[in-house]
Amino acid sequence: MEFYKQILENNKEWVGSKLSSDPEFFKRLENGQQPPLLWIGCADSRVPANEIIGTQPGEVFVHRNIANMVIHTDMNMLSVLDYAVNALKVEHIIVCGHYGCGGVKAAMGNQSIGLIDNWIRHIKDVYKLHTEELEAIEDEKERWDRFVELNVIEQVYDLAETSILQNAWKNEQKVVIHGWAYGVGTGLVNDLNVHLSGNEKLDEVYRLNF
Ligand code: CO
Repeated sequence: MEFYKQILENNKEWVGSKLSSDPEFFKRLENGQQPPLLWIGCADSRVPANEIIGTQPGEVFVHRNIANMVIHTDMNMLSVLDYAVNALKVEHIIVCGHYGCGGVKAAMGNQSIGLIDNWIRHIKDVYKLHTEELEAIEDEKERWDRFVELNVIEQVYDLAETSILQNAWKNEQKVVIHGWAYGVGTGLVNDLNVHLSGNEKLDEVYRLNF
């Protein structure tokens, strides 16, 4: 069957299977959402937020873009973050990068690929911050993997530096930011062990007083 027709069929089948195990499944979702998690991930088709962590509709609020970037003037990201933190009161935020990320790879090279160069430039800024560590890695694949990880960690800090999170923490709201790197070839998450729940670890200049 043609792909487009197939996905409409798939939808009907999915509804049927959900209803057969839980007749109230969609009725409950109709009443609103209270997800405990905001996911900021790469747009890559191999990294579907809900599926890889075994969550159902209603459990994850999602923002995705190329290379899971947190650009502090991006109104789209800021609006998602503001709603997640201030309206939904999520308790966890995960920045999930992935090994084999094409955006990160492009940032390591010099080839222009069009308008996206201007987005990729934000990733190049991360490279520049970590040039010494990255260029000490001779194997290109290993350097790419490490760059994926460092990029995630930088985005975790970029989130922590937003006025939205610093204000929430000042009001003693419990929300923790985590950084993950997902293996598209293994399906496994690598928890990068960066967990921020306050602004104490930020460079002085980024800390806000309210
Ligand atoms: Co990617």
